[in-house]
Amino acid sequence: MPPSSSSPPTADPLAALKQQAAEQAVAFVQSGMILGLGAGSTAVFALRRIGQLLAEGALRDLVGVPCSLQVEAEARRVGIPVTSLDDHPALDLTIDGADEVDPHLNLIKGGGGALLREKIVAQASQREIIVVDEGKLSPHLGVKWAVPVEVVPFAWRAQVRFLEGLGARVVRRGRDGEAYHTDQGNFILDCYFGPLAAPARLAHQLADRAGIVEHGLFLGLATDLIVAGVAGIQHRRRPPSAPPASGGMGG
Ligand code: A5P
Repeated sequence: MPPSSSSPPTADPLAALKQQAAEQAVAFVQSGMILGLGAGSTAVFALRRIGQLLAEGALRDLVGVPCSLQVEAEARRVGIPVTSLDDHPALDLTIDGADEVDPHLNLIKGGGGALLREKIVAQASQREIIVVDEGKLSPHLGVKWAVPVEVVPFAWRAQVRFLEGLGARVVRRGRDGEAYHTDQGNFILDCYFGPLAAPARLAHQLADRAGIVEHGLFLGLATDLIVAGVAGIQHRRRPPSAPPASGGMGG
């Protein structure tokens, strides 16, 4: 049975799909869980629904680890007790969004700039449920979205040269010449590679580079995908044969 809605219904059809996917995922939340609280305009619907269920007494004894300072503020606003991974290093379940999802449930994330904390939280989660509208589905990562790369401000132009050397067109995120800063005070370089033939190899190359803090390729981390489309809601689980988090995709 579909969950009853928490946020007021929206006239925006895309927002309505995001809300449906996110609220469907909340059906997997149980009292007593330690949750990861994802970032973005889709995951926020899950946050609000959890807050509502706590207020109604349908859920209790939950705590959540927010993936960004903005999410932390919203979690407090809707009444979800906030904790940290230092206090609760093992999470039962995280509900988060994504920018692009391939058929193996590999992801590009970081459109909202929270990719570092999101990946830390995902790696600490037993179950990582990704909630998207059907427009995020893609045959290959990189078709629809740039790969966000978080770099320390020191020598960031050296990272641009490195990333261009890997084949990307690189745009530092920001507005009017002012750099966007992550919650860690770092920059985001949006890297337009086009369709990625070998995401795992790229992930290794990025991970090996000093000055790159993290990247938005989430490979082998999502356990579940909930997709809302005009024809309804689908729940997919990562197939056992899906490529692992590192390696395995070749050249
Ligand atoms: C935040 O850094 C991102 O990874 C988001 O989870 C992702 O950008 C999806 O956001 P929307 O749900 O707003 O599309």
